[in-house]
Amino acid sequence: MNKIAVVPGSFDPVTLGHLDVIARAASIVDQVHVVVVHNPGKTALLPIAQRVSLIERAIAEAKIPGNIVVTSWSVGLLVDYCTDVGATLLIKGIRSQVDVTYETPMAIVNRNLTGVETIFMLPDPAHAHVSSSLVRQVASLGGDVSPYVPAVVAEFLQSALT
Ligand code: PNS
Repeated sequence: MNKIAVVPGSFDPVTLGHLDVIARAASIVDQVHVVVVHNPGKTALLPIAQRVSLIERAIAEAKIPGNIVVTSWSVGLLVDYCTDVGATLLIKGIRSQVDVTYETPMAIVNRNLTGVETIFMLPDPAHAHVSSSLVRQVASLGGDVSPYVPAVVAEFLQSALT
């Protein structure tokens, strides 16, 4: 059976924690779709196309093995994207109990909508404190974000924001 999973998120920008989850997801299913979704609850830093490009370049830079598609989705429910591509799983990275609290209602609603299951993936604890919102804040105030993001992202943010 061809198992397809979707790893969704804002990825604004992609962090080392995201990359760790993408790599782990790619090691357990046949194909992973990394889907950049606009989250209306967050103030965006980067355009969606830029986020997609940075994820693609970060995956190449890290030489993550597996069948990985990077794309974006903006025309409706995430579960509709899953149905369109035949994905039966959503995979979400969980850093702490806060993430469990945030993700659990979405996981249940998504399952109620179409039956898609959500797997909570535990990333390397080394990335537990890393979030895109902290990266956005540090980068926009001129700080060094290279410990938290792929090199291609650190270079892009440095050139774009300074
Ligand atoms: O990285 P984020 O911002 O925590 O990702 C949240 C995201 C984009 C995955 C979530 O908001 C989402 O799934 N949005 C798509 C719209 C949708 O399907 N909403 C219903 C989910 S219950």
